Amino acid sequence: MTARFPTARPRRLRRTPALRRLVAETRVRPDELILPVFVKEGIDAPRPVPSMPGVVQHTRESVRKAAEEAAEAGVGGLMLFGVPEFKDERGSAADDPGGVIQLALRDLSADLGTDIVLMADLCLDEYTSHGHCGVLTPTGEVDNDATLERYASIAVAQAAAGVQVVGPSGMMDGQVGAIRAALDQAGYTDVAILAYAAKYASAFYGPFRDAAEGAPQFGDRAGYQQDPANVREALREVELDVGEGADMVMVKPGLAYLDVVAEVARTSPVPVAAYQVSGEYAMVEAAAQNGWLDRERVILETLLCHRRAGAAQVLTYWATEAARLLR
Ligand code: PBG
Repeated sequence: MTARFPTARPRRLRRTPALRRLVAETRVRPDELILPVFVKEGIDAPRPVPSMPGVVQHTRESVRKAAEEAAEAGVGGLMLFGVPEFKDERGSAADDPGGVIQLALRDLSADLGTDIVLMADLCLDEYTSHGHCGVLTPTGEVDNDATLERYASIAVAQAAAGVQVVGPSGMMDGQVGAIRAALDQAGYTDVAILAYAAKYASAFYGPFRDAAEGAPQFGDRAGYQQDPANVREALREVELDVGEGADMVMVKPGLAYLDVVAEVARTSPVPVAAYQVSGEYAMVEAAAQNGWLDRERVILETLLCHRRAGAAQVLTYWATEAARLLR
């Protein structure tokens, strides 16, 4: 008996880098990456976030430099988070025209114009003394409809400060519709909404709560964010948000939820983004610091996998570095 030759040889197309490039189905481009940045009120030097090596809370000045570097590297967008000095029950700093996020938006839109897409997280957890994403009822529950009024006002304040895309992340029912109506009524019909449509109640947000100083002071967010057990619910949230006027939708976290990204991407009529969150960043950085994995390769691989799953845009704390690596 002579040995049989295999009739199919997939290895032929893997033989050289040029062949592999020729047949690659997915690519990551810098302009699909969005860099989340934190800007903190009342500090005079950037402050490192211990659980996110390489990430800082920016000053009003230093965020301008970081934004310029991102734009120069070709990063597609910035997602701004404000960290106010003073918090209260209703998160008053969130829609204060003189609040840190509004000031930063004004600076950045003056500096960068439309060279990079300027986005802002639209939520209350960084601004409330209790750390929840909305205002509370007298019994300490998050009051959905009273919160919508706050979100509407924040959207208008951010729009007045030059935001191009608002990112509502509080998971209140009807938030996209309320924000769209408020923006339109105030004449900001061109400000787009990137809805955190399928946002799960995830332990992967742990390090972010150091960065944004928005940990809930009691309870958790399971009453408004989604149960990690569910995917049907994500599809429903996306459908509702699109119906209310979302221009783009997001799935969050990323890596552990790529099945959700894939499902949403199959049916969504609008672009689908994924957020590679703080815990995902921290895991890779910690392992890399121990010499346990090849940091740069893992960063690029995770980004590629988000794209392969169907995310058109990826929010990542590595955006500037990854954009440079991809050049
Ligand atoms: C809420 C918000 C959170 C994140 C983005 N927006 C935290 C939360 O819902 O608890 C998490 C982002 C990350 O972990 O990187 N405004």
